[in-house]
Amino acid sequence: MQAHLSVFKDEAKLDISYVPHILPHRERELKLLTEFFSFALQSPEKMTQRVIITGDVGTGKTVLSQRFGANIAVEAAKRRLSLRYVHVNCREYRGRLFLILQHVVSAFHPNFPARGYSAEELLRILMQVLDEENAYVILSLDEFDSVIDREGSEAVYKLTRLQEMRQGKAQRLSLVCIMRNLDAMQSLDASTRSTLQSNVIRLDNYTRQQLLEILSGRVELAFKPSTVSEDTLGLIAELAASEGGNARFGIELLWRAGKYANAEAVGCVTPECVRKAVSSIVPSFRKSDLADLVFHEKLFLVGIARLFKTNEEASISLAKAEQAYAVVCEEFDVKPNSHTQLWKYLQGLSALDIVKSEVSGKGARGRSTRIFLPRIPALELEKELSALLEKEVK
Ligand SMILES: Nc1ncnc2c1ncn2[C@@H]1O[C@H](COP(=O)(O)OP(=O)(O)OP(=O)(O)O)[C@@H](O)[C@H]1O
Ligand SMILES: [Mg+2]
Repeated sequence: MQAHLSVFKDEAKLDISYVPHILPHRERELKLLTEFFSFALQSPEKMTQRVIITGDVGTGKTVLSQRFGANIAVEAAKRRLSLRYVHVNCREYRGRLFLILQHVVSAFHPNFPARGYSAEELLRILMQVLDEENAYVILSLDEFDSVIDREGSEAVYKLTRLQEMRQGKAQRLSLVCIMRNLDAMQSLDASTRSTLQSNVIRLDNYTRQQLLEILSGRVELAFKPSTVSEDTLGLIAELAASEGGNARFGIELLWRAGKYANAEAVGCVTPECVRKAVSSIVPSFRKSDLADLVFHEKLFLVGIARLFKTNEEASISLAKAEQAYAVVCEEFDVKPNSHTQLWKYLQGLSALDIVKSEVSGKGARGRSTRIFLPRIPALELEKELSALLEKEVK
């Protein structure tokens, strides 16, 4: 693939580790998080903070915390304050507190001997290092539920009550705990739970419209101009919304669709590229669902698949689909079914999640019904149906 034909201008902007400077629809939460830590830039020794960030998969918990961490580190550096933000994915350390703390200590002392210390010892060493360097840490414990699962109350207690054991000394270690849901908290004893739960930031699932804005931000950063149409973007936003408002799913689809566009050298990311991308991530349809369709449903669907194969819009009208169906009927030398019957087929195909239909405009007239093919590549669908039909007419 020649570089100049690529749809990407900077693929790294779609990487999971990339932290955008602007997080659309998380401005309020970012402000709140920053507000919780406002003391840290003024008089960090006087207090510590504990915040929980919670929300479903792909709602931006990790990226929110990382954006905050990068911002506050810049501010601290301006003030010549030794304040570090350390982000740890606890699951990577199998929820083991001593492994997590080893990692944190090594952020300050890269050559710190890795083995042989208990969590308690490491915590003491960490505080000692911080005292010596007059440094402060905001420790972000991502996927924190894995720590609770693994270590239970006691370890969490050690972490959260640390300051109380250091009476009279400067406060140094703040926590951001990130977890998808707060159920795991129920297993903690009441007092640990209450020290943790004081500040909870809950991230709601993104709506389709919000996803659209997040994704178009990424398109601008990662793709060459005019390579991703509004229809393509709308389809991706729709799919990500139907996956529970999962921004990660949307960004991954965008990247994969770009890969398909490059592989086929089409020069832009079409809805068909998106369908290929989505079917490569989640199994798009069960072949038995197609085999079970009645003969005319299959013919109708062949017509739809053919339209999508050549159409770069995200949807087609029912009227167009009827015309395409009539052409297929002619090929098979059968009389087309009525409009009412096709309407029923459409409902059935929607129920099976093969297509999606939407009535736009006034009334439920056929004219204003739009058909979407969100998940199955049109080419694949046509091939599969043709094979089935061939068997049936033999
Ligand atoms: N508001 C936003 N603006 C820009 N990008 C976002 C936004 N929210 C999420 N993202 C991006 O979506 C992807 C998923 O976000 P993130 O990893 O933060 O989700 P998460 O809530 O931590 O999910 P999980 O529970 O699976 O860990 C990342 O690539 C992130 O950069
Ligand atoms: Mg995360």
